[in-house]
Amino acid sequence: MIVAPSLLAADFLHLDREVAMINSSAADWLHMDIMDGQFVPNISFGFPVVEAVAKVCRKPLDVHLMVERPEQWIDTLAGLGAAFMNVHAEATRHLHRTVQAIRAAGMRPAVTLCPATPVVMLEDIITDVDMVLLMSVNPGFGGQKFIAGTIDKIKRLRRLIDESGSAALIEVDGGINHVTAEAVRAAGCDAVVAGTAVFRAERPHEEIAYYHSL
Ligand code: DX5
Ligand code: ZN
Repeated sequence: MIVAPSLLAADFLHLDREVAMINSSAADWLHMDIMDGQFVPNISFGFPVVEAVAKVCRKPLDVHLMVERPEQWIDTLAGLGAAFMNVHAEATRHLHRTVQAIRAAGMRPAVTLCPATPVVMLEDIITDVDMVLLMSVNPGFGGQKFIAGTIDKIKRLRRLIDESGSAALIEVDGGINHVTAEAVRAAGCDAVVAGTAVFRAERPHEEIAYYHSL
């Protein structure tokens, strides 16, 4: 399975060491969580941090914007070389326009759904996106407990993707550990985000390799 460690759980005093660890690991992407204190009740880090990390990170950046009106930042993020731009369906009024603009700017568009947002929201956009990110916790904080209903949601999304002929990947974010990772994989998930499980592990390389092997 694709594994995207989330920098939110890294040691911010030593980001150089953390990125070097990611570079030398089996990680497929590096997940970066940007928050604005409006869409979610927390603020993490902003574009200067993405810029600094992008200069040394050799893995594609999977940037998750937990901000209101994420379409404001398309050019900024494209300029920083982000591979994926994840926008919340709940945070942008014209999702179709936003998705097209992300692709036109040279990034891969991904749409994120909060736990309470149903998969049917994506019916008319699913063939336009490269990935759907399902939140398995309420966004804003690392270290939360996986919401069990996500498993059924993954199955519903898998069906929608397969029936529509979309090539979108399914990524799951929040509360990932060995048990929940195996469950999401079995339900049809392609990629997991893992914050606490990777960066707070005794042996992060081994943790990453484990998720990668599923
Ligand atoms: C939460 C973020 C996640 C977070 C996951 O709002 O979107 O990416 O870093 O953290 P863990 O893996 O600790 O649940
Ligand atoms: Zn995230």
